[in-house]
Amino acid sequence: MLAASEKSGVKIRHAVASDTRQVTDLLELLSPSGKSDPSPDAVTMAAALSGREGNTTTLVAEDAREGATRGQILGTCSVVFMQRLARGGCAIARLEDVVTAKAARGRGVAATLCEAAKAEAARRGAYALDLRCVPKLVKYYGKFGWTDAGCAMRCNL
Ligand SMILES: CC(C)(COP(=O)(O)OP(=O)(O)OC[C@H]1O[C@@H](n2cnc3c(N)ncnc32)[C@H](O)[C@@H]1OP(=O)(O)O)[C@@H](O)C(=O)NCCC(=O)NCCS
Repeated sequence: MLAASEKSGVKIRHAVASDTRQVTDLLELLSPSGKSDPSPDAVTMAAALSGREGNTTTLVAEDAREGATRGQILGTCSVVFMQRLARGGCAIARLEDVVTAKAARGRGVAATLCEAAKAEAARRGAYALDLRCVPKLVKYYGKFGWTDAGCAMRCNL
């Protein structure tokens, strides 16, 4: 277990292959169409979730409240590590795919995931944890210590 929060009633742990279906269902909530784009195939997803020390580490928030369904996952996020040669080979990390099940929103599940993601990035030696979000979530992430780091640019390929 990486973290626990009494307020949100979740325990944070690394995802494992058997979380594939639940994580896939949660990721679909990130897409306005309700379907991940492109849909991850189960084998790729299971392999990605198994590689906790690889470039992408996925965390899950498991419902730890009394009477909760055993193994029920209420939220997830991923931390992606990129080595920076200009930083002596240290990694910069990026927080991706933060999502909470609709029924569990507003009780601090994502907040607990964000804190665990920061701890995970620090544990693996990253010097910063970046994220991109929609403007309406800037204030939210600001509560956890993220600050404006300039504009983000993208070249779609
Ligand atoms: C954003 C999201 C992850 C928050 O999850 P959560 O577990 O409900 O978050 P918490 O309980 O820790 O915090 C809830 C806070 O988020 C704020 N919030 C959530 N969604 C918001 C939105 N769309 N616009 C503005 N604020 C939002 C709430 O107002 C609340 O603020 P408060 O703490 O000041 O009361 C969740 O709403 C979600 O999964 N949304 C769809 C996917 C998404 O947008 N992911 C973010 C990608 S960067």
